[in-house]
Amino acid sequence: MTFNNLLINTEHKISTITINRPNKLNALNSQTISELSESIKLLEVDISTRVIIITGMGNKSFVAGADISEFADFNSEQGMQLSELGQHTLFNVIENCSKPVIAAVNGFALGGGLELAMASHIRVMSVNAKMGLPETSLGLIPGYGGTQRLTQLIGKGRALEMIMTAKMILADEALKIGLANHVVNQDDLLNFCKQIANKIINNSPKAISSAIKATNASLVNNINGFDVEISEFGKCFDTDDFKEGTTAFLEKRKPIF
Ligand code: COA
Repeated sequence: MTFNNLLINTEHKISTITINRPNKLNALNSQTISELSESIKLLEVDISTRVIIITGMGNKSFVAGADISEFADFNSEQGMQLSELGQHTLFNVIENCSKPVIAAVNGFALGGGLELAMASHIRVMSVNAKMGLPETSLGLIPGYGGTQRLTQLIGKGRALEMIMTAKMILADEALKIGLANHVVNQDDLLNFCKQIANKIINNSPKAISSAIKATNASLVNNINGFDVEISEFGKCFDTDDFKEGTTAFLEKRKPIF
């Protein structure tokens, strides 16, 4: 898998996607968005990948937002298309990916960068990370799902404050309000994410995919999540993973998934 703006490394069932535009603080231009979308879809069906980690190149920035230079002269029609295309081709694809996606936030996560982290299933931040949705300072609002996902993660009052003030918050505050799952030293960031990934890899990939679907159901797709949970719970019983998991328990050994 080779891309112009991404580096991909797969090792021990963990694929790490590194967004590689450090001289633009890894800002998401349209090519990077389309490469990210393609890479996630490829890794989702790649048998040697069980968990995906997304990070940014360098020690300064995860992603400093959508590439402002690409939309500075857009009109409302083009703006709507930009938002719709981004949401459908990338951000919703990540959130609904059947394999766990961990954002390793190694610095600035602004605008589309924070939206990328929020579309991921788990967010781990380095101590120097700074998060914000600065769009209102540009005369915009978040367009890649930020108004919805930030509200789901931290509640409406805090989300509106972050959006309306356009201010950046530090990793410690992100941890306190539930935006970050963990905060670790920058040097430990990728290893820490891999430790989480390895714990996930011990468990049933089919059950994990069902858990993602059920957890997302009411939040993302505005449908009854309890019904999806019932259906996904039921489907688990027909899987080899369920047979292996229960057999291993009864045989007092670790399951092999
Ligand atoms: N889009 C396009 N280019 C961006 C960018 C973005 N979102 N964020 C940073 N860059 C570019 C800068 O234009 C600069 O490029 P140049 O060297 O060719 O001029 C380079 O990345 C380095 O950024 P710079 O601003 O010089 O770094 P800094 O350390 O002084 O400031 C930030 C860092 C993150 C505070 C600042 O870059 C910034 O505010 N970026 C925009 C954040 C934003 O509003 N994102 C939401 C977009 S919707």
